[in-house]
Amino acid sequence: MKILGKYPNVRLRRNRKYDWSRKLVAENNLTVNDLILPIFVTEGKNKIESIKSMPGAYRYSIDKINHIVNKASKVGIPLVAIFPHTPNKKKNSLGTESLNENNLVCQAIKKIKKNNPNIGVMADVALDPYTNHGHDGVLKKKEVLNDETVEILTKQAVLQAEMGCDVIAPSDMMDGRVGVIRKALDKNNFKNVQILSYAAKYASNFYGPFRNAIGSKQKSKINKKSYQMDFRNSEEALREVALDIKEGADFVMIKPGLPYLDVIKSVKENFKIPVFVYQVSGEYSMIRNAIKNNIFKEDVIIESLMSFKRSGASAIVSYFALDVAKKITN
Ligand code: PBG
Repeated sequence: MKILGKYPNVRLRRNRKYDWSRKLVAENNLTVNDLILPIFVTEGKNKIESIKSMPGAYRYSIDKINHIVNKASKVGIPLVAIFPHTPNKKKNSLGTESLNENNLVCQAIKKIKKNNPNIGVMADVALDPYTNHGHDGVLKKKEVLNDETVEILTKQAVLQAEMGCDVIAPSDMMDGRVGVIRKALDKNNFKNVQILSYAAKYASNFYGPFRNAIGSKQKSKINKKSYQMDFRNSEEALREVALDIKEGADFVMIKPGLPYLDVIKSVKENFKIPVFVYQVSGEYSMIRNAIKNNIFKEDVIIESLMSFKRSGASAIVSYFALDVAKKITN
C-alpha cells in the first residue's frame, strides 16, 4: 500500500479525537446480528446448573430452556446452538443415544421451535456427547472409523432436521460427511435445512472447559489429532473448506477463534462464502476468569469479538453472546 501524504499535513489522530468521529470512520462493527449463543442442556427438571469450568455459563433442563431462549430472542440473537450433557448411563461405544428421537437435543429443538419459532436453532452432528470414550466417531482398536461414523452422523442429521432443526452443524471432522449429509437431507425433503460445516476444526487444547461442561472427557488414549486439524497447518484448512463447499456447505466454521485469526482471514479471502468462527470454551474461560480477578475490564470481551469481524467473520459463536448483545443494544 502506498502511503499518501505525510506529517505535519497528515495527522491520523485528528479522526480519532472525538467519539462521533471515531464512529464515522469505524471499519467494522459488531451487532447482535453477528451472534450465535450456545446453550447447554441437561436431564432432570427445574435445573439451571452452573458449570465449574465455565463461570457464568449454565446447563438448563428442558423445562427451563425457554428461560434463556426468550432472553436471546428478546435481544435479537438470530441463532442458538444446542449442546447436550448426556448422562453416562446413556453412553456407549457407538453413541446410539444420538439416534434416540427423545434425546436431549431432540427435545430441546422441539421445545424451542414451538415457543420461539422465529429464532434459528442449530445442532452439532458428532458422536462425542454420546460415546463412552468421548470420541466424535466409532472406535475400532486404535482408530476412529470414518465411513462407519459418517453413516451414523447422516442418520443423526436427518433426525435433527425432522425435529425442526434449522442448521445442521457437523463438528466431527470425518471426511466426506457434508456431501453425504446434504444428499440425505435432500432425499428426505429437507432441502432448505442449512449445513454449517465445522470445516477447519483444530485439535485444540482450548476445548478443555467444554468437555467438562458436556461431560465428554476422552477416556481412551487416542488423541483427537487423528481427525481434527493439526495446529501447525493453515493451507490444509483451505483444502478442507474447498471440499466442504463442493459438498454443499452453506457456511463454514473456523474453530477455535482467537488463536486462528489468520485462518479466518485467508478462508474469507480465498472463498466468497460466509465464514463463522467459534470462540471456544477455553477462550471464554480465560477471559471470564481474568475479568473476575480484575486483570481485565469487561471491554476486553468486545475487543476479542471485534478481532473476528476484522478478520472477516460473518458470525461468531460465543458464550458471551447474551452479555454482549445486552451491552451493544442498550
Ligand atoms: C465436539 C465439540 C467440541 C466443541 C464443540 N463440539 C469439542 C471437541 O471436539 O472435543 C468445543 C467447543 C468449545 O470448546 O467451546 N464435537
